[in-house]
Amino acid sequence: MMPATQQELPRQVRLVEVGPRDGLQNEQQPISVDDKVRLVDELTAAGLGYIEAGSFVSPRWVPQMAGSAEVFARISRKSGVTYAALTPNLQGLEAALAAGVEEVAVFAAASEAFSQKNINCSISESLARFAPVLEAAQTRNIRVRGYVSCVLGCPYQGEVKATEVATVARELHAMGCYEISLGDTIGTGTPGRTRQLIETVSQHVPRERLAGHYHDTYGQALANIYASLLEGVAVFDSSVAGLGGCPYAAGASGNVASEDVVYMLNGLGITTGIDLDMLIAAGQRISQLLGRSNGSRVARALSSS
Ligand code: HMG
Ligand code: MG
Repeated sequence: MMPATQQELPRQVRLVEVGPRDGLQNEQQPISVDDKVRLVDELTAAGLGYIEAGSFVSPRWVPQMAGSAEVFARISRKSGVTYAALTPNLQGLEAALAAGVEEVAVFAAASEAFSQKNINCSISESLARFAPVLEAAQTRNIRVRGYVSCVLGCPYQGEVKATEVATVARELHAMGCYEISLGDTIGTGTPGRTRQLIETVSQHVPRERLAGHYHDTYGQALANIYASLLEGVAVFDSSVAGLGGCPYAAGASGNVASEDVVYMLNGLGITTGIDLDMLIAAGQRISQLLGRSNGSRVARALSSS
């Protein structure tokens, strides 16, 4: 029998480290600006090329991100590394720019219910709110990334159709977002559905403009990343030590752990430019600080001897 044809995988992958934002925003314990700064600096040292270091949102909605301006003021920036922040509106953009943020992200949802609960407006209202953010960012040469949440399921409305995701992704791309990150916010997606989602969305947004943002609530994230690689997606969001949790599933894990993604990509011979040992050390330190077990299985395996 002929061997199955080896499917081409991307040779290089870019990781977007979202631990200091998506991870920490969901941690219950207070964490000081000093500790956030140290985390970002250690991630820089480990070779991450893109670090989402905070967000400029209402502190009443997300108290953990309240010190983001101070974090941006104090991190040691390395040339060639992007330090980004979430900005839900013009007020957030202005605050981010004042703090010296170099790139921002807007975040929409593919589910109406989630949009209301997360940013207090409908999907179309959110897109209208992002338009001036994109315009203002463009005039200042600031790149804007776009997130779509609930791409493989919603905690409030359940099923979300791939065509609904495609509509929001297409809008964000048309408005000027250079990359669209597809967020499996509750981690319910499985590899077959992930592939179908990318097939559908890529009819409206080029694959090279798509990123995968998979939460690991159901243990599917690495499989979904592999499925996405098979679809030609080469940018993934991940969180050191799998920081964070899931507000919709008590005790659940957060984003896929960056260490686990790097380990898998190393095994596939895919280059990331990240030093796994240094990444593990950063994850161990922040986990100890937060008094939680490290959410990266690779880190646990390699740190146990
Ligand atoms: P709102 O209450 O409708 O806003 O919230 P508003 O415009 O009516 O303003 C109310 C108050 O908020 C005012 O203050 C504003 O100044 C203030 P007051 O006069 O009452 O003292 N405000 C702000 N403060 C700081 N920064 C701002 C800002 N804007 C208004 N930018 C709003 C609307 C969008 C602000 C609110 O809903 C919000 O901040 N939501 C943030 C939600 C959030 O950050 N969620 C987590 C990130 S998304 C995510 O994690 C998903 C992702 O990871 C992908 C995935 O996994 O799917 C990206
Ligand atoms: Mg997320």
